Amino acid sequence: MNKTIAIILAAGRGTRMKSGTPKVLHKILGKPMISYVTGAVSRAAIRDMVVVTGFGSDKVKEFFYGTKIKTVAQKRLLGSANAVDAAKREIGSSSDVLVVYGDTPLITEDTLKSLIERHKSSGASLTLLTATLKNPSGYGRIIRDTDGRITKIAEDSEAREYKKEIREINVGTCIFTRSALFIALKEIGCDNSKREYYLTDAVKILSARALKVESIAVENLDEMTGINSRIELAAAVNVMKTRIMEELMASGVTIQDPATTTIYPDVSIGEDTVIYPNTIIESDVKIGSNCHIGPFARLRGGTRIGDKVEIGNFVELVRTGVAESTKVKHHTYLGDARVGKNVNIGAGTITANYDGKNKNRTFIGDGSFIGVGAILIAPVKIGKKALVGAGAVILRGTSVKDGATVVGVPAKILRRRAGDRRRGDRR
Ligand code: UD1
Ligand code: CA
Repeated sequence: MNKTIAIILAAGRGTRMKSGTPKVLHKILGKPMISYVTGAVSRAAIRDMVVVTGFGSDKVKEFFYGTKIKTVAQKRLLGSANAVDAAKREIGSSSDVLVVYGDTPLITEDTLKSLIERHKSSGASLTLLTATLKNPSGYGRIIRDTDGRITKIAEDSEAREYKKEIREINVGTCIFTRSALFIALKEIGCDNSKREYYLTDAVKILSARALKVESIAVENLDEMTGINSRIELAAAVNVMKTRIMEELMASGVTIQDPATTTIYPDVSIGEDTVIYPNTIIESDVKIGSNCHIGPFARLRGGTRIGDKVEIGNFVELVRTGVAESTKVKHHTYLGDARVGKNVNIGAGTITANYDGKNKNRTFIGDGSFIGVGAILIAPVKIGKKALVGAGAVILRGTSVKDGATVVGVPAKILRRRAGDRRRGDRR
């Protein structure tokens, strides 16, 4: 069957991160860097993936536990060929094997698709992703013969002087036919200065057998960046932020100051919504159209915002729904709340959603008005068109009826005499 499996190499120690956490689990916008790699691979329509773990193996395995992605441990870190060898049994009947390094989170599905496409259309036994760099030091160099055919990769540590002038380098991402990979794995040795089994030695082995080695060049150099230090991690975060925001802006969202705005992956925002400076929007947030968000707002996971909503400065929302045309404009925390439409949440309103053990929910009905500085100790239910006085403390378990007014500490229902005007007639 014509099926491709991906092997993702993630055993390396990542010494330069200076961390107890395996390098590939360091986060970019809330998600481990390796999840960007597996995401790109899966969007390139590859379903079978094996991650090779080594340093901090248990933590990496735990991250993938319960997903469709398999993990295998490389017992000793003897080099990239040895790492692929550790995953050999998982290859099964797949016809092609894509190899990607777990520390290249900026690789895109488009590049992976082009690589696979070139591999299949050219009938090569191995197709490499390459790049041409001003400063190629540190990378394996692509060595070609006079006809331009790739004959070898010279690792940096092995490269002699003349090879240092070669600026075409091996990115690391490559795809083998199954049979070519098995031939190479059998023959690769460790006769080099590091005594490691280099996967890149496959090139000279295959080319010596007159098997075709192809390449495509990566168009955007960001994509090939391997993350080795926390400085490179921060640079990758910036690239990812820019990608996410440019996509949103192209879809009709105004972002006033991208430099101070952070938007995580898996966020959807409707047309004509404006994001003001210093706003942070984390993953799993959906925002409607024509909203104003920020400045200085923080929207966390599970937040759902309808159309024409205004979320102002120093407002934090988590696992909270806010329906259309509602205003939450200043200094507010709403957690595990469901707020109806046309509600006004006064400045400084706080839901006390956590009682030390459980997270409890708050419901606020359509058209209600919550006065400044109100504290709602969840679970709390406020009916429609209700009024909560400024500074009121609503105790847990309270249910305020539709149209009622509550005030004070603790909040009590304000009794009305017969003939009082109904709320809504006033103000
Ligand atoms: C590697 C390539 C080099 C390329 C460069 C691009 C080899 C031999 N060389 O060099 O041609 O230009 O990447 O960044 O592959 N790994 C394991 N187990 C091991 C050793 C490595 O899983 O025993 C994994 C690492 O976690 C990493 C990848 O393989 O994801 C590459 O290994 P690394 O040691 O970083 O190779 P480089 O010297 O950077
Ligand atoms: Ca590396």
